[in-house]
Amino acid sequence: MNHLSILFVTSEMAPWVKTGGLGDVAAALPAALRRARHDVRVLIPAYPALLQAFPDARPVAELPALAPALPPARLLAAGLPLLLLDCPEFFARAGNPYLDAHGHDQADNAIRFGLLSRVAALLGQPGSPLDWRPDVVHLNDWQSALAPAWLHYEGGAASVVTVHNIAFQGNFAADHLTALGLPEHAWRFDGVEYHGQLSFLKAGLQLATLISTVSPTYAQEIQDEAFGYGLAPLLRHRAGALRGILNGVDSTLWNPAADPALAVPYAANRLAAKRENKRALQQEMGLDFAADRPLFGIISRLTEQKGLDLVLTLGEGITKLPAQLAILGSGDKLMEAGFRDLATRFPGQIAVRLGFDEALAHRIEAGADCFLMPSRFEPCGLNQMYSLRYGTPPIVRATGGLADTVIDVSEATLADKTANGFVIAEATPHALWLALERATRCWHDRKLWQRIQQNGMRRDFSWEHAAHDYVTLYRDAIAARH
Ligand code: ADP
Ligand code: GLC
Repeated sequence: MNHLSILFVTSEMAPWVKTGGLGDVAAALPAALRRARHDVRVLIPAYPALLQAFPDARPVAELPALAPALPPARLLAAGLPLLLLDCPEFFARAGNPYLDAHGHDQADNAIRFGLLSRVAALLGQPGSPLDWRPDVVHLNDWQSALAPAWLHYEGGAASVVTVHNIAFQGNFAADHLTALGLPEHAWRFDGVEYHGQLSFLKAGLQLATLISTVSPTYAQEIQDEAFGYGLAPLLRHRAGALRGILNGVDSTLWNPAADPALAVPYAANRLAAKRENKRALQQEMGLDFAADRPLFGIISRLTEQKGLDLVLTLGEGITKLPAQLAILGSGDKLMEAGFRDLATRFPGQIAVRLGFDEALAHRIEAGADCFLMPSRFEPCGLNQMYSLRYGTPPIVRATGGLADTVIDVSEATLADKTANGFVIAEATPHALWLALERATRCWHDRKLWQRIQQNGMRRDFSWEHAAHDYVTLYRDAIAARH
């Protein structure tokens, strides 16, 4: 099999720039493709954190102003290999790649990520300034999803758009069409126009050669009005071009037997040591040393999507189960205040850390007994998979990737050794409460709990499977383009 040249385009990449799961995917998937001997280059804005991490990055191309609103820029080549899109006036900003210091979208996101999309397309076109030409350009989320528009109208490589979250679409005022240098005739309902706006994601879903999302269930769900955020009709129309490929877990980063962030390493056949991590976590977060009750963990962006308002409602009840709760998250200010308030009311039983803390995230996965992720929708979800690997059975809602990875405990699933967590059908406090009670009862049965833990720990979530499916997707896109 000949090897492919792939341009992977992303707006974040762990460990340097990460706001959520896309950062993890952008690090792990290109690496897995490289292990399969494909030539993958990652195009990403040259954020300060990346320039610092790669001080030897060297200029490989000067880009002229590609459209009225787009300033000249440079491409730097670095490690891995990366292509850093260097445009200081757009990307030399500290902190979150999308938001300003007040948590609002940066005012010029349309042209910042318009530039990323435009350059991504250019690198797949005959006019590319590089002597390297990709067979396929792989765009991720709205920030690069406009690229297929140029590849479609002007010609160029095959393109694939992956939706990591359809709730974020990158919809902007109509005058961006000319500002970004798109042709007039792209302004059509089957082009880049979407309810009178220029939509990056709509454009990508309409014009990419093939499209994918990050789990098979979410690929079905987004064709339904309830999950499609307005794009369901388009996705139904393109159903034949849409696939669901489940994300993997980077087992070099998420492995309880070799995780430098943990107090004590452990494995499926050495689960006793997990208890020491619980004690260390209780200490770190200021929770009472209670061995007689389960500790529930949460690591999350605090948004409506994640269903954590249900946990807020049940906070007091959780302490009476009795159980403890450890939360790491940031986001919605009201939700942050709600969790802070719970921690104040129930000291020693509920602990909250507001902020982003990678190492603590690992220690919560290891130290908690059970993980909570009652998302209203979840394209894939990585934390439930990390939880399964860490012997921390998750409680999830049956949606998207959660439905594809977590198998509810029942007599049948215990018998066939697939039971690995607790699944609720509805995002209601009552449904979550019943699951919390059920999980607590199971936890008190040590032998049963260990079986559930081991079922989860033994499941193979390696990226190799996903990488294989992406290669098939790329080959199909290349064939379709010709
Ligand atoms: P999403 O991408 O929707 O946020 P995922 O479950 O796919 O959800 O991925 C979230 C990723 O971000 C995980 O790696 C998780 O550990 C991490 N994460 C989320 N919030 C925090 C936080 N406050 N501190 C550290 N890591 C976090
Ligand atoms: C998004 C989704 C999440 C998914 C991640 C990586 O942020 O919300 O479910 O795991 O992207 O694909």
